[in-house]
Amino acid sequence: MYDQSKNTDECVIANLIRAINTYLIPYRKTLRGVEDVLTQIPLAATKGNFRKNNTTQPFPTAEILKTAVCNIRAQTLTTIRECLLSATDELIWKQDEDEYYAPESDLGNGYRANNLHALLIGPSNAKYYHPDFTLGIFLLGPFTFYRDHFHLAPELYLNLTNRTGWRFQGGEWIDYGAGSLIWNDSNNVHATRVYDEHFISIFSWTRNINSLCKVFKCEDWKKVEQELHDSQWRDKVHNTGVANV
Ligand SMILES: [Fe+2]
Repeated sequence: MYDQSKNTDECVIANLIRAINTYLIPYRKTLRGVEDVLTQIPLAATKGNFRKNNTTQPFPTAEILKTAVCNIRAQTLTTIRECLLSATDELIWKQDEDEYYAPESDLGNGYRANNLHALLIGPSNAKYYHPDFTLGIFLLGPFTFYRDHFHLAPELYLNLTNRTGWRFQGGEWIDYGAGSLIWNDSNNVHATRVYDEHFISIFSWTRNINSLCKVFKCEDWKKVEQELHDSQWRDKVHNTGVANV
């Protein structure tokens, strides 16, 4: 079981897990799935052979991370932000290059180019070992559409940044703010759209983590992507005055 009692530099990942755990406790009775996460976290074991070989994040990973963490501004998330800052260099950051999807899945280039994650607890690439549970950090770049998808693993998100669009079962878009929690039950379809700021979140898969994700094709994918592209252009014009050239 991971050690919550120490508070040294060597335990920065444990401190981050503890901060997440503390944040979730008030929601254990009110949001489905939170109890599952809180039950599994203490079952994680310290992994003897976890070693991060390279402490320097390759560019542009470092820049994306720095920007995303700076976007965590909510007072209620201060502890998580500080612990995340301390733990960033100790984590193994990876891009999802369709490893969670069957070959030929129509994920879109936006997602492929703009995602990043690191595990705190999991079966591999994590300091704390659990064979069938993950807890980690997940990022998406600005103006990114993570297309509708589903997976057998039930999933909890804790949104750390201010405003992100979500839709469920292909329904209406709803914006979620910093500190909000989202529970995607097993095989529930969900999609995410990121506006002008980097998105960063805590995520957890509570069981069946080895099952692949599947995309759920929606007719409006191109439209959503075009709208985000247009927003990105307007944002650039607003910030640089390109329209006046
Ligand atoms: Fe998901």
